[in-house]
Amino acid sequence: MTDHRPLFIVIEGLDGSGKTTQIEMLRDHLQARGEACYLTAEPTELITGRMIRSILRHEQTVDPRTLAALFAADRVEHIFHPAEGLLAQLAAGYHVIASRYYFSSLAYQSEHVDPGWIAALNRQAKHTLPADLTIFLDLDPQTSMDRITSRTEDTELFETVEKLTHVRESFLQAFDVFGEGENIVTVDASRPPVAVADDIARLVDML
Ligand code: TYD
Repeated sequence: MTDHRPLFIVIEGLDGSGKTTQIEMLRDHLQARGEACYLTAEPTELITGRMIRSILRHEQTVDPRTLAALFAADRVEHIFHPAEGLLAQLAAGYHVIASRYYFSSLAYQSEHVDPGWIAALNRQAKHTLPADLTIFLDLDPQTSMDRITSRTEDTELFETVEKLTHVRESFLQAFDVFGEGENIVTVDASRPPVAVADDIARLVDML
């Protein structure tokens, strides 16, 4: 690996906005620079993330405030886990590319939970490890919905056009209100994946 500062890059966006594809293309770009990446996502595969996925699959029901707290708890695990944690991976010299981070909590949980409380739950994460760059893959809610329904039969908790519209607006509001001091860039995700990836690569090369 060449000498470089490990970067923490977060990819946010509606369901179906192409996060997974873009994360893989960014990894390829950084690898072509000779730099190794660690790919990760929230909810995590840790115990906290498994609880969340079970709730999203409707196997368990909890109060929306509990779900907001679980996402925040999962984020704490994600940051501090001694082996798989974000801090550990960055300390080991890897660039970390994460699918979703605290802006997703503000975007999704704010439908049912006081945004001020969600922000309070996530303030430690923002202070401990803000991303070097947050990319918002912006997509109109109907296109997001179409992409989701074309790829899967089962729709998770948040997947209706009305909800996606609220989520998109909440994302934009969260960047304004909670994104202070951060490097957040909105990218038009309705274009072909290669065009989106080129934009992201250029932004990362500037860091
Ligand atoms: P994810 O696995 O990223 O779903 P997808 O691949 O469909 O985008 O996330 C699962 C769901 O969890 C997704 O609908 C968004 C939601 N979510 C929250 O509600 N709050 C959060 O803090 C996070 C990280 C995700």
